[in-house]
Amino acid sequence: MIATVARSGLAPSPLRGEGWDEGLPERTTAPASSGARQPLLQLKKVNSFYGPVQAHFDLDIEVRKGQIVSLLGGNASGKSTTMKIVLGLLKPRSGEVNFNGESMLGLGTPQIIRKGIGSVPEARRLFPAMTVRENLLMGAYARSDRKAVAEDLERMLELFPRVAERIEFQAGTLSGGEQQMVAMARALMGRPQLICMDEPTMGLSPLYVDKVLELIARINGQGVSVFMVEQNASLALQIAHHGYVLQTGRIVLSGPARELLADARIRDAYLGGEGAARTAS
Ligand SMILES: Nc1ncnc2c1ncn2[C@@H]1O[C@H](COP(=O)(O)OP(=O)(O)OP(=O)(O)O)[C@@H](O)[C@H]1O
Ligand SMILES: [Mg+2]
Repeated sequence: MIATVARSGLAPSPLRGEGWDEGLPERTTAPASSGARQPLLQLKKVNSFYGPVQAHFDLDIEVRKGQIVSLLGGNASGKSTTMKIVLGLLKPRSGEVNFNGESMLGLGTPQIIRKGIGSVPEARRLFPAMTVRENLLMGAYARSDRKAVAEDLERMLELFPRVAERIEFQAGTLSGGEQQMVAMARALMGRPQLICMDEPTMGLSPLYVDKVLELIARINGQGVSVFMVEQNASLALQIAHHGYVLQTGRIVLSGPARELLADARIRDAYLGGEGAARTAS
């Protein structure tokens, strides 16, 4: 079970090394949001538009250090647009986007990535004609510490043995699940404090869905905070500390992941309507 994996002791960190947060406490059943961890990413009263069409309405989202935060919502609710806002690909018309207490609003995407935000975009977006190794090294393009980059590459191959087996293959020849792992490893090559993932399990076989979620929990256990968009609410909430539900650009529900998992409204909307049966009886 994913929840068990996420809460159990994890193997020694292959990511440990200079620059990584170390010694974060293991996730417990208590929501991390109740602790004193500092906000890492904050969206405050964000309003965004595509031309005349408003995509976000006073969006408030917070990811604290060490957390996995899941952003849930149906089609066209504004999940991917939220990722664009965080990565500087779309500028909000009003509101704040802060990372480590610093505004990201005047910065371009490369600068935001240098500040410590990694991205695993929707549909992976690897360079298909390049090898897996070349793709991974692209994730470290902003780094000049070549020796440490080589060490991190080794760590990635330990963390993702399947990627190691495919290291000289053209990325476009890999399966969806393998490509997802390459995309995660590529993002980690930038040594981010926060990784943003858009639908990391989309289109994957059940085996790879479990594997990818287990790896997200593992990466988080090693100190990398995670902000993930996911349609599979049940699975996403099993590994998350905190969740937000978006509906046509508005946050309609938020709270500790365990509470959301038990919430009848979430069950109605995303988990097969068991809550509806219960409330009706
Ligand atoms: N480039 C764009 N130009 C105009 N409108 C857009 C653009 N991208 C998204 N939108 C609109 O903004 C709204 C939010 O889209 P977004 O892609 O953020 O939703 P989503 O929650 O990620 O959906 P999905 O589950 O389908 O991935 C939708 O109404 C969509 O049509
Ligand atoms: Mg989307």
